[in-house]
Parts: sequence; C-alpha cells; structure tokens
Amino acid sequence: MPEQFRVHDRTVTYLDSAPWPSGVAQRVAPVGLADGGQGAGPQNTLVLIHAFPMNADMWEAQLDAVPAGWRYLAPDLRGFGRSDPDQANGTAAPSLDDYARDILALLDHLRVDRAVIAGLSMGGYAAFAVLRLAPMRVRGLVLANTRAEADSEEARKGRTDMLDLLAGGGVAAVVDQMLPRLLGETSHAERPAIVRRVRAFALANSAEGVRGAIVRMMNRRDATPLLPGIQCPTLVIASDEDAVTPADRAREMLAAIPGAQLSTIAGAGHLSNLEQPGDFNLALRHFLSQRLGG
Ligand code: MLT
Repeated sequence: MPEQFRVHDRTVTYLDSAPWPSGVAQRVAPVGLADGGQGAGPQNTLVLIHAFPMNADMWEAQLDAVPAGWRYLAPDLRGFGRSDPDQANGTAAPSLDDYARDILALLDHLRVDRAVIAGLSMGGYAAFAVLRLAPMRVRGLVLANTRAEADSEEARKGRTDMLDLLAGGGVAAVVDQMLPRLLGETSHAERPAIVRRVRAFALANSAEGVRGAIVRMMNRRDATPLLPGIQCPTLVIASDEDAVTPADRAREMLAAIPGAQLSTIAGAGHLSNLEQPGDFNLALRHFLSQRLGG
C-alpha cells in the first residue's frame, strides 16, 4: 500500500516495508512503534531509488524480501508513479538535487537520521546527489547499473532527441525506443512477463516527470571526484547483459571507492533487480549483513 507525504505543495508517494499502523500520527509515534513494529530501527533503513523511466514499483521483489531488522523505503521520484510532478512555477533549472531533497525530506518525515542509499542507474545519479548534499546521512551506498561520470556530448544529443520524441509521441514513444536496451537478451528471450511489466511501469509515469528526468540527467554533474572520498560501506552492482551501463563503468567505480565491493549479476541486463531478483536480493542481503551489521 503506497504511503504519502507533502513537500511544499507536492505529494510524494513511497512504498514502505514497515509502514506505520494506520491512525498513528507519524511524528508522535509512541515509544516502541518507532521501529515500525517489526524490529527495524531507524538505523536500519534502506532507500531504493528507481531507474528511468521506471517508478517505485520496480522494487516490488526487493520489498517482498526485506531481511529481518531492516526497513526498505522506495519513493516515486517527482512526476513518476503516484508522486506529483514539479510545480508549474517550480524549479527554473531542474537538477538531480531536487530528487535528493525529496529523499532527504522523506527521511525527515519518518524521523530517520541516516540510511543506506541504493540507486539503480538514474537512481544511482540521485544517490550521488544525496551524498553530495548530506554525506552525514548516508550510512552505506548501493550503486547498481549506474555510472559516476556526467553525460558526454553524444549522450546529451541523445537526450535532446529523446525530448523531441517525448514531445511528439508521449511517454509511449520513449518506452518503445528504450525497451529493447533496458532489458538483457535473456529477459527478452525467456521472460515475456518482465518485458510487459517494465512497459507497464514506464507507461504509468507522467510526461512531465519523464521530461524533468531527461533534463536532470543531461545536466547532471560529474560524480567521479566524489568517489575517492566515499567513506561509507559501498556495494557496486553490475550485470553481464547491461547494454545501457556496461560493467566497465562499475569496475571504474569499484577501483575509485575505498573498500567498495562488486557483485556481478549473470543473465541480467540494465534492470538487474527485476531481471534476476533472487541474485540481486542475495547480493544486497550479504552486503547489509557483512558491512552494515544488519
Ligand atoms: C536509467 O536506467 O535510469 C537510465 O537509462 C539512465 C540514463 O539514461 O542515463
């Protein structure tokens, strides 16, 4: 059941593996309910940030397999899923920092000081933005099928073309263009249900949300200079059939982040958590238990 809260005049929706019992005011929760009633203390919170053009529903298989003592949160970024888009008179220059501020507002709303921040692809770009804005609130990082560097000139040109495609054909045209590369060859050949689900997730997003994300990604800052200074436990996840973010990008991040560890998922393309949820969950669980004591 999606939960909601307000940031300024927008509604932000999120999935919560340990939601507050209905009727309990979140800011005055009685002692003993501060852990959501499931033994997951505020220190054991993990935020899952979705890819483009997905939404929080892409984390369903992770939310169904939360390790004991942990709480997983998965927000719909603004304009995606059930979250409101940017306000009409809002941000003049949309930035990934907008997403990061919404994530920090979610943690404030739930009175969580520090969390493990996990992002897949665009979600990883947003995770870097959270790290830049509020490093003290990041207890650990999971960087899945993502990259640290900013867009090349060629990639920016591709984004401009995608904005034109969106203007002419709507979200469906963007999805049609992206779908062949979003999933790996194994999924395309053997898992038609996943192909259909990914399409449905993407079509649930607003054109405003998709446009805002394209602009934010094309203008994003290079996160490479951040990597050597990352002090929290970090898991980098790659997959062997990822045509969008090749595994080389993961190896580069691995080499630059002190103490980072790598998990490579076999038989998965770009959306590794959806394509091989069992292996993805296992990698996450090992990381949380070995590096974060959960
Ligand atoms: C994503 O999966 O989030 C996007 O493909 C990332 C990108 O286009 O850079």
